[in-house]
Parts: sequence; C-alpha cells; structure tokens
Amino acid sequence: MAVTPIDLRSDTITRPTSAMRAAIAAAEVGDDVFGDDPTANALQAEIAERLGKEAALFVPSGSMSNQIAVRVHCRPGEEILCEAGCHVYNYEQGGYAQLSGVAVRPVEGEFGELCLDQLRGLIRAENEHLVRTRLVSLENTHNRGGGRVLDYANVQAISAWARQNGLATHLDGARLFNAVVASGIAADQWASHFDTVSVCFSKGLGAPVGSALVGPRDLIAEARRHRKLFGGGMRQVGILAAAALHALHNHVDRLAEDHAHAKELAAAVCATPGLSLPSDRVDTNIVVFEVSPQLGTSAHFTSRLAERGVWMIPFGPQLVRAVTHLDVNGEQIEAACRALAETAAACAAEDRTGITMDSAYV
Ligand SMILES: Cc1ncc(COP(=O)(O)O)c(C=O)c1O
Repeated sequence: MAVTPIDLRSDTITRPTSAMRAAIAAAEVGDDVFGDDPTANALQAEIAERLGKEAALFVPSGSMSNQIAVRVHCRPGEEILCEAGCHVYNYEQGGYAQLSGVAVRPVEGEFGELCLDQLRGLIRAENEHLVRTRLVSLENTHNRGGGRVLDYANVQAISAWARQNGLATHLDGARLFNAVVASGIAADQWASHFDTVSVCFSKGLGAPVGSALVGPRDLIAEARRHRKLFGGGMRQVGILAAAALHALHNHVDRLAEDHAHAKELAAAVCATPGLSLPSDRVDTNIVVFEVSPQLGTSAHFTSRLAERGVWMIPFGPQLVRAVTHLDVNGEQIEAACRALAETAAACAAEDRTGITMDSAYV
C-alpha cells in the first residue's frame, strides 16, 4: 500500500476538512457579480470588521488581491517601494508592470524586514525624468524571510513616514493570521497601519480557494471594478466564501500548533550535521534551512528526502523550505524530523567525487 507523503511543500496544500465541506454544502448562494451572494457578503463584512476596515472584496487568489491593490493605488508611471524578497515583486510575474504599468524599487531587507532608515531618501523628486513614488508595500508574515513576523515598531514607523509623505500603504497579509497568533497583536491593530490589506484563506487557514482585499469603502468599490477587469468576478461564490468563513471561525487559534511544529522541525535541523538555520528565529509556520554543499544541493537533498516520504521544496541552490499546516500532525512532524537526520547522513555518505554540483543537481 502506498504510504501517504508528509507534504511540507506549502500550507496551500491542505484539503478541506469534513466540517468545512459540510459548511460548503450548506452555503446559501446567489450571483455575486450582481452582489446577490449572501455568504460572500457575510464573509466580506466579517473580514472587514476583523481588520477594522470599512469594506472587503473576496477574490480568487492572493496574487489577484495584491495586483488589484497595486492597480487601485497607482497610475502608470508610478513606483512601489517594497522589500526585495517579497511576493509582489518576485512571484506575481511582474503583474504590477504587466497589468498596471507600474515600476518597483526593491530594497534588500533582513529576513524580509525593512527599517525606516532604508526608505528615507527614496521618494523621487518631482522631475519629468523620474517615475513618481506612490506606494509602500510590506509583507507580514514574510515568506522568503522564513515566515518572519515583522517588527511592530518598524511597521508603525514606516507607515507613519509613508503617510506623512503622501504615499499609500499596502500589506500583503497572505499569512497575517499567523502573525496575529505568533505576536499576540490583533489583526485590526496590524491593519491599522495600512490603507489596504490582502489576506489569504487558502494558506494556513486551510480553505481551498480565496483571498480578500480589505480597505476604505471607496477603494474597495474601485477594486471591485478591477476584479471584474482581471477576470475575477465570480457567480455562486458562496460555496467558497463558506469555506473561508469556516476557516476564520475554526482555524485561526490552531495556527499555534503549526508554529510549534515548525519549531520542532527547526530544532531537528539544528541537531543535524550538514543542515543549519540561516536565522535563529522561527516565528511562525515556515522553516527555511541551509544544506551544506557536502550534502549536495537543495534539489538533491529534497529528492532524497522525498524517497523517505517527506516533501519539502528547494528555495535556493542550498536553501530548503518546509511549511507546517493543518494537514500534518505531531506524529508526522516527528517522522519528518527523523527523515531529515537520515537523509542528511545518507547524503553525507554519498561519493560525490567527480560530480560537479551545478550540472548534477540544479
Ligand atoms: C506572501 C504571499 N503573498 C501572496 C501569495 C499569493 O497567493 P496565491 O497563490 O493565492 O496567488 C503567496 C502565495 O504563496 C504568498 O506566499
């Protein structure tokens, strides 16, 4: 019998629980493009309230949510300031340029974290040669930063500076609820520092599909137009909104369990010769670790690990990412920890003479 893999590639891989499927089955629906879907309307009202904003818009994905935010804040020829490893800049196909004619000025942070001093002086002068600086976009928690919860005082300072200088602010809060649970700082408190916030229901919260863009009523009305333009107007979408509502009601507090599991994995990494953590902090559900070149590349290591039934992803030539979530339990985490140690020992014992790592593994 095939053994079920322990899938730590992402927190997007979760499948709806039976309680969530029951909520989906029971959902009242209507045509949401006419504004008639009661469940989508209920979700939008609830997430807006939880984030302390006037309005929200349910959209198919986090990428669409971020890109609609860029579109409502910026005109062609304007520029976004963001951290260099962020999702908006790296993993959305340059949607800001393709869809909105907007430029990005990435600034290298530390594990996804920027501080205000790095941004001061970056606002462009009014000059016909230059793009216009328009938006500051932050990400919390920060995916490439290893699930880092941003420092609250930094967020406050950057946001206050942006506002004083007439810049709009957006938060990619795909995993905002992980930050809330890890920091004890409420969602509306984090959100108060941004004009718009994107949150995902389909990551740690365990819903199958969907994100929301949250903000002032006039911007969200404009966002609704752009959602239609980008092909995100959906019809009886209450079946998805019901899953998102179920996730909000049942899957937020339990994120603490995912965070504890990530710490267990991190401890196993530290205890394994040849593996190490680039940062001594594992704040939430993401563990990014380094594989020593003596064990081969990250691609080699993850393929050997997969032979032991544990799936993680290469996150750089020597970096691996593991993400904990609703569909992995404590026993599976223990098994994954054992597999890490066994795989590292097996890779260390391999004869790599004559193998050039680039051609053999990447
Ligand atoms: C930080 C962050 N923002 C946005 C997204 C995009 O979400 P989606 O895959 O729903 O487009 C992701 C996806 O992993 C993410 O990690």
